[in-house]
Amino acid sequence: MDLLYCLRLLRRDWWLVLISLVIGVTSAVIITANTPPKYAATITMMAKSTEQPVSQPITQQQMKSYANLLSSGRLISQAAVIAMMAKNMQQPVSQPITQQQMKSYANLLSSGRLIGQIVATEGEIRTVQQNITVQAIPDTLLLRATVTDGDPVRAMRLADALSTRFAVLVDEMERPTADRPSSVKILVVDQPRMPNEPVSPRPLVNVAFGVLIALFVGVGSIILRDRLDTTIKTSEMLQHLSQSHTLGIIGFDKDVERRPLIVRDKGSSLRAEAYRSLRANLQFIDIDRQPKSLVVTSCLPREGKSSTSSNLAIALAQAGKRVILIDGNLRRPRISDYFGIETVAGLTDVLIGKAELRSAIQRWGEFDLHILPSGQIPPNPSELLGSPGMEQILKELVKSYDMVLIDAPPLLNVTDAATLTAACDGAMLVARYGKTRQDHVIRAKEALSSVDARLVGTVLNAVPARASRYGHGQKAELKTKGELTTPVSG
Ligand SMILES: Nc1ncnc2c1ncn2[C@@H]1O[C@H](COP(=O)(O)OP(=O)(O)OP(=O)(O)O)[C@@H](O)[C@H]1O
Ligand SMILES: [Mg+2]
Repeated sequence: MDLLYCLRLLRRDWWLVLISLVIGVTSAVIITANTPPKYAATITMMAKSTEQPVSQPITQQQMKSYANLLSSGRLISQAAVIAMMAKNMQQPVSQPITQQQMKSYANLLSSGRLIGQIVATEGEIRTVQQNITVQAIPDTLLLRATVTDGDPVRAMRLADALSTRFAVLVDEMERPTADRPSSVKILVVDQPRMPNEPVSPRPLVNVAFGVLIALFVGVGSIILRDRLDTTIKTSEMLQHLSQSHTLGIIGFDKDVERRPLIVRDKGSSLRAEAYRSLRANLQFIDIDRQPKSLVVTSCLPREGKSSTSSNLAIALAQAGKRVILIDGNLRRPRISDYFGIETVAGLTDVLIGKAELRSAIQRWGEFDLHILPSGQIPPNPSELLGSPGMEQILKELVKSYDMVLIDAPPLLNVTDAATLTAACDGAMLVARYGKTRQDHVIRAKEALSSVDARLVGTVLNAVPARASRYGHGQKAELKTKGELTTPVSG
């Protein structure tokens, strides 16, 4: 997946990222608004050994504790630390407190035994335990406890009570005997302060997190959508799956519904140009076996058979060819509507012997273009289209026209199109951009092969402007998936 392709995907599906961003940011805002604020009160304590009356040098642990206090920024003043150091230097210092002891004190601080002394019920003990974090600052004699609570005053009081009870508990526990003083003293070096700002929720962090997840989901869904999209998007893909040339690329035009025929726009539009290009490309396929009777079909309904066959018939007639267009879609005939002709008799009437072939054919427009409408919708279209009568009609028409075009039903639903193609020189398969599935093209090709019918080429219809770039003249280019596609000839 190259960068250009990724950018194209992003340009096509940017709305997925936008939707994800809107959902992500909205969720972050809703979560933030619905999260009750929590306040944190922090207290810092120092464990001090009091046991040995022998004067000793200041320990490394003590030095680190002082350094930590000085850099904490929350401490008592610098003078207080210096005073504490001086006091320690003058007074006899004790045996160093081990890191194991410090860790034990940290655990003691969040123990049920201690917390049970400041709150009453079991539930409250558990809540406080969940809302307390204790840290024995490594290589120091400092302990830091943070209590969070929905009420800032209660958070501060809890932290305060915790330190007081903790000092008493350590004092009790560290007495060698009941009548001797404790070997460790707990000093509060940084009193808890009334928290002004809640520590959670954090709106900016939440929104940033929401944006990050949204980007991840948005981009992920673009990639997933691309991977799951099994429709035809390039003429290369169509060519590869059908194993035949893409003879034309017709752009999507919202006016097709209103004006299906190119002749109405005086033949100057991009669509008219695309059909002329298709006409030109048709002449280049297999010079020795130039098709004179061609079935226009597709995999499934509504992929553009009627509009392609009608406009190709016009383009051929405009080039001076004697053309007949047969409405061979006896299930959903549209040719009469497209050309705006009144149907007196049609193909079915000729096939059942109710009308003469010549009388059913109508000349249309100023060119040598003739139309054989479908006639009445019969109950047995497949039977009629595969009948010897149909074969006879085709033989006759091929003699009198340069090109016999048949607008047929889709290949995958019914056998009509394959049957018709077997009686003609070949079929042209119309695939609709973003609708016709890759496996359908393979199955359509198989349906034709199963009756030894020839697929002369394909047309990629309704290609959106963003996926195609039409040059002037007869060259058409389709640019998707980072590839350039050039029709058989130009
Ligand atoms: N290039 C195009 N751009 C925009 N719309 C198109 C294009 N080609 C066809 N359509 C529209 O698609 C619909 C189906 O087109 P069309 O009748 O040609 O298909 P079909 O394969 O013959 O359908 P059916 O299976 O019913 O016979 C029509 O509404 C038509 O206007
Ligand atoms: Mg049709």
